[in-house]
This record gives sequence, C-alpha cells and structure tokens, in this order.
Amino acid sequence: MKLSCWSILLGASALALPAAAVDFKADVAPIFEQKCIGCHGPDKQKGKLRLDTLENALKGGKGGPALKAGDPDASELIKRVELPKDNDDHMPTEGDPLTKEQVTILRDWIKAGAVWPDGVVLTAKGGKPPASADAAAPAQPKAPAGPPPPPLPELSKDFVPTAAETDAIAAIAKSGIDVRLIAQNGPWREANFRLSGSNVTDAVIAPLKEVTSLVELNLAMTRVTDAGLSAVDGLGHLQNLQLQLTGIGDGAAEHFKKLTNLVTLNLYGSQVSDATLPALKDLAHLRSLYLWQTKVTPDAVQQLKAARPGLYINTGWEAPATNAVPATNAPAKAEEKK
Ligand code: HEC
Repeated sequence: MKLSCWSILLGASALALPAAAVDFKADVAPIFEQKCIGCHGPDKQKGKLRLDTLENALKGGKGGPALKAGDPDASELIKRVELPKDNDDHMPTEGDPLTKEQVTILRDWIKAGAVWPDGVVLTAKGGKPPASADAAAPAQPKAPAGPPPPPLPELSKDFVPTAAETDAIAAIAKSGIDVRLIAQNGPWREANFRLSGSNVTDAVIAPLKEVTSLVELNLAMTRVTDAGLSAVDGLGHLQNLQLQLTGIGDGAAEHFKKLTNLVTLNLYGSQVSDATLPALKDLAHLRSLYLWQTKVTPDAVQQLKAARPGLYINTGWEAPATNAVPATNAPAKAEEKK
C-alpha cells in the first residue's frame, strides 16, 4: 500500500509541474545570494561546488549534482540545509541556518522543476555569510510596502505536552507520519503529511487537535477538506500551514481565523477565492501568503495589500507562467510596477 500510493503521488505532482510556484528572481535568488554564493561562487568553491548558475548547480561538487529538478527529497542541497545545525554536513556551515520559510521556498522551487531563467548568474550579497539579523525574518522575497508584522513571542521551552497529546502522536504514527520535534532541546513539533498525500483524509488528521505543540503543519497534496480543518482550530502555536494543491476552499476561512499565530500560509493550487481573504486580514503575524493558481482576483489582492502593507503575497501574476522571465540585465524592479 505504501508503494502503490507513490504512483498517485507522482501523478499529482506531475500535474502541478507546468509552471513555477516560486519566482526564481524574487524568491530563490536572494537565498542563494545571501546564504550560499559566498562559499559556492566565483570566489570560493567549497566542496568544488558553485551555485551561481544552473549549469554549475546541476554539475554539482565532489558529491555530484547539488539538486535534482522536480525532486527535492533527492536533492543534495535540500538534504544539507535540512540537517540539524550541529551536523558536519549542514549548510550553510557558518551563520544561521535557513529559516523554515526559506527551505520551503527552495523545496517548492525544485519541486516545480528548478526553473532558472536563461543566463541568470548569481553573485554573493550581504558580504560575510549572515549577520544574524535575518534569522528572525523569514525570506521576504519582494520587499512589501509596509513594515513587517510584529514578531511572535518566543516559544517557551517549558511547554509540557498532555497525555492526550502523546496518545495522539502515537495514533498519527500508526498512519505512518512522524510528528517530529523541531529541535531536540524543546517540546515543539512539526508534521508533514505531504508524502502520504492522497492517503491522508480528515480522519487521519483528526488526532491533530490534541497536538498543541505543533508549530509547522504540511498538508499539501492531501485529501483534507474544509470541515476536516476543524482539527487545527485549537493549535494556537501553529505558525506555518501548508495546504497547497488540496481541495481546500472558502469553507476553511473560519478555521484560519482561529490560527492567530500563523506566519506562513500556503494555499497555492487550492480552491480558495476572494471570500477567504477577509479572514486573513486580521491574522496579525501573517507574513507570507501563497495564492498562486487559486480563484483569487487581483482586486481582492489589492484590497488585502492595502489593509496589510507588510504582508508578502505571492500570486504568480508578476511572472508569466511560461517561465519567460525578463532578461538578466532587466532592472530588477521593472516587473513590480504597480
Ligand atoms: C561558510 C561557507 C559555506 C557556506 C556559506 C555554504 N557552504 Fe556549502 N559547503 C561548504 C563546505 C566547506 C563544503 C564542503 C564540505 C563537504 O564536502 O561536506 C560545502 C559543501 C556543500 C555541498 C556538497 C558539495 C559536494 O558535492 O560535495 C552542497 C550541496 C552545499 N554545500 C550546499 C550549500 C548551500 C545550499 C548553501 C547555502 C544555503 C551553502 N552550501 C552555504 C561551505 C559553505
């Protein structure tokens, strides 16, 4: 059963491939330029790897290609940025690890085919690998017009899970999903249902309602429904919710409203429309919202932007879906004309 679901999964992801969910120049390039090129570019080639052009990234380093288009899990660079910071192979080797948000951008970019516009050459930015200033701020691909939303209070290390919570985690493990600790020295957790995709129904996620230590939840490509999201209503610490490529529609808005600590919400390729946006306006900490390939209209997005000038909204409208991104030397801001 485990194996047979792969074909369904691959089928679904192939459908999702035609265009990039993530805009290379706006979303991906800044991560490489700020966090990687200093050691993997023209000046230094640690591990014999350069990440300044697609050719170089595909050629890879000592250990082979750095990435495999369409398959983040088979991509060396994803493996490395996801390793714990104290692992010798963790990247970057100096400075702060990538934020979850940045890792998600890289994953989604590779998943969508690692589109790298012709001729784009990256250069190291921000001098020395990272000043810790950007650790707190998830990638802000295009600078939004207003100040970023207020940061969340730090998660306390003293949180103690209830017995019900421990039971729920065990129940979910029976469906093959590990509700993992985010860091060994804290109680906070993440759950990724994406790889079980179409096997994941409302019933599978129902026990989540006890898992109040959940900070990150990936339900991308699952079969959860709007009603099923009642399982997340009480998850007051949830910061990152991924619902891309699901049947989620406007009925989910009432559940989103309760997630007052949400920082990132990915609804790309879902069924939501303009009716969902008012519910998101009041999520005070929301920084990044992915609405690419939904029924949302430009007018409604404009309204949300006006109400929340610091919010980054990715609609995919800026970059043509054909991947025909402007030539390398086009002024970076040209496409942002409002
Ligand atoms: C401060 C320097 C430094 C920074 C910044 C850095 N790396 Fe590295 N990287 C290294 C070193 C040193 C090695 C070689 C160590 C090894 O072989 O394990 C390496 C090796 C790698 C390799 C394996 C190359 C191979 O084929 O052996 C990958 C993939 C990689 N880095 C990706 C990244 C990514 C992605 C980033 C940015 C998020 C990054 N690195 C940032 C120093 C750095």
